[in-house]
Amino acid sequence: MYDRGLLRITRPSPAGSEGLELLEGTELDGSVTSGLVLDPATGRTYPVKDGYLDLLGRRTGVRNVANLTNFLPGAGPVYEPLWRSRSLTLLTGEKFPNDREIGIIADLARVDRGGLYLDLGCSTGLYTRSLAAKLGGRGKVLGIDIAPTMLKEAVQRAKRTAKRTMGVFPSFARADAENLPFMDGAFAGAVCGGTLNEFGDPARVLREAQRMLEPGGRVAVMGLLEAKTQRGRRVQRLLSAGGLRFFEPEEVTSLLDHAGFEPDPLRKDNLIFFAGASRC
Ligand SMILES: C[S@@+](CC[C@H](N)C(=O)[O-])C[C@H]1O[C@@H](n2cnc3c(N)ncnc32)[C@H](O)[C@@H]1O
Repeated sequence: MYDRGLLRITRPSPAGSEGLELLEGTELDGSVTSGLVLDPATGRTYPVKDGYLDLLGRRTGVRNVANLTNFLPGAGPVYEPLWRSRSLTLLTGEKFPNDREIGIIADLARVDRGGLYLDLGCSTGLYTRSLAAKLGGRGKVLGIDIAPTMLKEAVQRAKRTAKRTMGVFPSFARADAENLPFMDGAFAGAVCGGTLNEFGDPARVLREAQRMLEPGGRVAVMGLLEAKTQRGRRVQRLLSAGGLRFFEPEEVTSLLDHAGFEPDPLRKDNLIFFAGASRC
């Protein structure tokens, strides 16, 4: 599902100043469920299939082995039940349910202001659909990812949640966070759960996010810090070989600062950080 109103701010080509147009397709409650959209600036078309807009086509957006694991068939359906539902409990060593995490992210992103929010590297859309439910009619959320299996599952999960939240439905697109295909200043906020550790170039993603946000817009990031124990360091060294990176707290603040944000004091909980910042 891709909210029809978002086509106007979607610009896969920097030359496109008018956004995309719906060429053909089916719609439900203002969202395109399947079909074809056109970029009038280039004449290129992009499909809406499996419930998401695919702006990458044959390009994978993959930069490392860690990225590749998200493309494995079957990865989407097992990601939340096997890992995401317990990840913060395992990483912090205390009971840390998803609801608590989402409350922190929503506060840092100041979702209570309403408006349009972007979820960077959304996987199966945990933040995307949770924030959409929190916003209700006061705003919209768009989740982007490069992995088709994750997006397909995100759409299915959002459909199931929408039944419980009176039809609130987020949008999903296959797009690269290192080259965000949206109009400058179009979003009130951006969120990013765990993905800063996985991006090929996290500094570039944060610069792109800054460009996407309106002045005073908020970014909220949850990510993993460098381990302090020998065992933790050994595990992280192994994971680094696959392209994951782990940050020192000062590094996170410095990345945000250099991307043009004014960072809040970093919140740390064992291996996890929560970073909030305002676009300068
Ligand atoms: C660790 S998962 C995080 C998922 C999600 N944010 C969450 O909180 O559960 C990282 C996701 O980022 C995606 N990803 C990696 N590089 C990306 C990029 N350059 N642009 C968009 N998504 C990317 C991967 O496909 C994967 O689904």
